[in-house]
Amino acid sequence: MKVSASFLSSKNVVSDIVKLNETDVDYIHLDILDGKFAPNRSLPFSEMKHIYKYTSKRLDVHLMVESPKKYIPLYASLNTEYIVFHLEVDEDIEEDLKLIKKYSIKAGLAIKPDTKVNELLPYLPYLDIILVMSVEPGFGGQEFLEETEEKLAELRKLLDTYNIDALISVDGGVNDKTRSMCSKADIVVAGSYIINGEDFQEKITSLR
Ligand code: DX5
Ligand code: ZN
Repeated sequence: MKVSASFLSSKNVVSDIVKLNETDVDYIHLDILDGKFAPNRSLPFSEMKHIYKYTSKRLDVHLMVESPKKYIPLYASLNTEYIVFHLEVDEDIEEDLKLIKKYSIKAGLAIKPDTKVNELLPYLPYLDIILVMSVEPGFGGQEFLEETEEKLAELRKLLDTYNIDALISVDGGVNDKTRSMCSKADIVVAGSYIINGEDFQEKITSLR
C-alpha cells in the first residue's frame, strides 16, 4: 500500500513537512480549499509554492475548489505527480482532465461520500487515479465513514469490468484501525494519524 501524507491539520507545517521528508512516505498530499467548495480555506498558492524548499517528495494535489481550471496551471508548476479535482464541480470535467494531462501530470477525480461510483463512468478512460473521500471535504481529524469499505469494493469491480487501470486512493480518517477497511485501495491518504504522532515513520509503516 502506498501512503500519501496530508498536513492540513498540522500546527507547524514547515517542521512537519521536513520531518515527513525524512520518512519513506510516497507522496505529500496537498489539500487545496477555496472556501467555497467546502467550508475551509487553505494557504494561497503564493505561500504553498514554497513547499519545494522543504520536501523532495512528489506531490499529490487534491483540489477542493469550485473552479479547478484556475488552479491546475498553478499546481502543475510544482513537483506534482497527481492532480485530482471533484466530480461534483460545475465545470467541463473532460476539459479540466485534459488540461492536467497537457502538463504531463497524472489526472484524477475525487468523489464525496454521497456521490455514487457509477457517476464516474463517463470519465473512466481519462483517469489515472480516483480519490474516494471517506469523510466530508473540509477538515482533517474527522472519523472514517465505514460505508467507504463497500464503496471501494464497488469501484474496484467497476474498474475491473471496464478494464481500467486507474489507481484508487482513499482520503479521510485513515488510521491503524480503519486501514483494514481500505484493502481495495492502492493509496491511503492520512493526515492527523501521522502528524499527531511522535514517530512519523512508525505511523506510516503501520499503514502499508
Ligand atoms: C479533508 C482532506 C483530507 C484530510 C485527511 O478535506 O481532503 O486529506 O486532510 O486528514 P485526516 O487523515 O486527519 O482525516
Ligand atoms: Zn485530501
